[in-house]
Amino acid sequence: MIVGLSGGSPPRGDTAMPVDMRVRLGGVELPNPVLAAAGCAGAGREIAQFTDVARIGALITKSIMAEPRTGNPAPRLAETPSGLLNSVGLQGPGIDAFLQRDLPWLLSRGARVVVSIGGQTVREYAGLAARLSDAAGVSAIEVNLSCPSAPDAGRMFALDPQAAAGVVAAVRDGARRDIPVFAKLSADVTDIVAVAGACITAGADGLSLVNALLGMAIDTVTMRPALAGTYGALSGPAIRPIAVRCIWQVRQALPDVPIIGTGGVRTGLDALELMLAGATVVGIGTAIVHDPSACARVLRELEEELATIGVDRAADVTGQAHGSARRGRLARGLSRPA
Ligand SMILES: Cc1cc2nc3c(=O)[nH]c(=O)nc-3n(C[C@H](O)[C@H](O)[C@H](O)COP(=O)(O)O)c2cc1C
Repeated sequence: MIVGLSGGSPPRGDTAMPVDMRVRLGGVELPNPVLAAAGCAGAGREIAQFTDVARIGALITKSIMAEPRTGNPAPRLAETPSGLLNSVGLQGPGIDAFLQRDLPWLLSRGARVVVSIGGQTVREYAGLAARLSDAAGVSAIEVNLSCPSAPDAGRMFALDPQAAAGVVAAVRDGARRDIPVFAKLSADVTDIVAVAGACITAGADGLSLVNALLGMAIDTVTMRPALAGTYGALSGPAIRPIAVRCIWQVRQALPDVPIIGTGGVRTGLDALELMLAGATVVGIGTAIVHDPSACARVLRELEEELATIGVDRAADVTGQAHGSARRGRLARGLSRPA
């Protein structure tokens, strides 16, 4: 809990002005800062029955690869006490089907689309960026660097600043200049600031923090790993403090770089916490797996919370936890009696 930001204070009353939820992300204006995170809303149709995809800030697609892929063998999901382990892998229809079928559908629904791309070689990433640049309507590209590198024996690009920077430079080169490129990093590193800095130097317009962390569970009945792929990616509430820490560290080192913050957000207050740490916008992942309407609910809760603490513009809370406490535009809300 963030002391001073939760609890029972009444809303600002009848005179309260609506909060301006608009934010700018790497030059792109979004109606609000709540995004569907990569892989948890597919290419939109999965949640369309429950959430108007035009209402959320943007939808980040499941990572698109050059070719169709079936992903990893089942079982691919294992629940843990406060998070989900998945080894779904990069399953998807490939770039051709995405451009022919999914992107036009999303645009016809009025969604803003951030396309996540994945590859096993630098060349594959660059090719995807070029294909997306020929298509209209892509708001941004998110580069999923947690993919196994073929030349580097399956080691994730995200684990090494140079390998990550190589991919980002190739994507930036291949992508149209007006499409912002976000590098999505892994928290499974000793120094996330070093990887973040290398990606920005290589031309990334912003960062996406963080991807799910490597984990494992063992089925005590079969006495075997619970997932067919042995290891899985841990997401959900368990990783929120790690996401907050990574966002905080990167914001401190690179204060002007826009950040898509993701990791364990279930409520509007959770989203606010990531923004206070430095996130420009917040991605909702595992919460969607449990509740396909989670983005709309988190957006509503965030807006209510901002109104309660007396914030006029959602964009103003980004990075506020780095300043001295109880100052500026938030002072009214933060100093209210508990
Ligand atoms: C089932 C599942 C599939 C995912 N697929 C992708 C993906 O294709 N690309 C990617 O960059 N991240 C993927 N992620 C990671 C999420 O986008 C997010 O970074 C991570 O789960 C942490 O956020 P959360 O705790 O809100 O889920 C996936 C996560 C889950 C649970």
